[in-house]
Amino acid sequence: MLERIEQLRAEAQTEIEAATTAAALEEARVKHLGRKAELPNLLRGVAELAPKERGKVGKAANEARQALEALVDSRLAELEAAELDRSLVTDRVDVTLPGTPPQRAGRLHLITQTRREIEDVFVGLGFTVAEGPEIESVYYNFDALNHDPAHPARARTDTFYVDDDTVLRTHTSPMQIRYMEAHPPPIAVIIPGRTYRRDSDATHTPQFHQVEGMWVDEDVTLADLKGTLLAFARAIFGPDRDVRLRPHFFPFTEPSVEVDVSCFNCARDGSPCSVCRGEGWLEILGAGMVDPNVFGYVREHGYDPDRVQGWAFGMGIERVAMLKHAVPDLRLLYDNDLRFLEQFG
Ligand code: PHE
Repeated sequence: MLERIEQLRAEAQTEIEAATTAAALEEARVKHLGRKAELPNLLRGVAELAPKERGKVGKAANEARQALEALVDSRLAELEAAELDRSLVTDRVDVTLPGTPPQRAGRLHLITQTRREIEDVFVGLGFTVAEGPEIESVYYNFDALNHDPAHPARARTDTFYVDDDTVLRTHTSPMQIRYMEAHPPPIAVIIPGRTYRRDSDATHTPQFHQVEGMWVDEDVTLADLKGTLLAFARAIFGPDRDVRLRPHFFPFTEPSVEVDVSCFNCARDGSPCSVCRGEGWLEILGAGMVDPNVFGYVREHGYDPDRVQGWAFGMGIERVAMLKHAVPDLRLLYDNDLRFLEQFG
């Protein structure tokens, strides 16, 4: 019996020492020390041996098991240490190398940046933002905005027609009607979006962007327009700006005005100003009190011209961006030359 124990111990020892991976070691452990292995079974059977055998055999088997267990533990520690050494070598990181450069995230186009800036200002003043279709009916683009049937903007030389009754909208103003049809007064809304006209030169592109603004209630006045636009001008062009209203004409507002903002450039030094060409004022938008005839088209949606009044404005996003950043040619905004675009944002 004692011989057998010695034999088992020797066999197990050889296999444990030969194991080169943690998995092989575990296999050897189960084989020699597991529940079904011979040595532990032998230990369990000690009680049945003759009394004079018991002590010797039990002691030997017990010693053998403890020695093997200790051997497994130390072999495991060896294997783990070797594994760590290996991975320290293979996974070595040279901390003196420069880091992986972050991916360039790109930036928003100047027109998008400017649109968002404008939206932020008006949202801060309590306006809602809405959008509408770029392909528009003649009814919404012209008729319901009180355009005379012979109004020159209706001409095919000025406007892109999809068919006789459908155009690419020439301004965001058709959304005045659509928005009032869908929302009873009071309303305070801005509508940014793309617009189209048959124009192409240094200050006009066939596609451009506008922001429409509209505030209608029972007592909204031109003074509210001026105050709102003054807050806008100061937020976009600087706290020292002023605004002025000049008489103008639009078919859908009465009275109508053009709105100028005081030049932010010539205030800087005494030299002749290239931004306003010495005028001191920069035109930024058209506006006016909503014509009662326009309310007449949405009367059944709650806009009784004898009860409600308010104003609308329309500004060009490109124009705001160009003025603010002294962009000399509108077409730069559409050439997609990164050397230009990367200067913003
Ligand atoms: N739609 C006009 C334009 O494109 C601007 C405008 C909007 C004027 C609202 C008055 C009121 O020129």
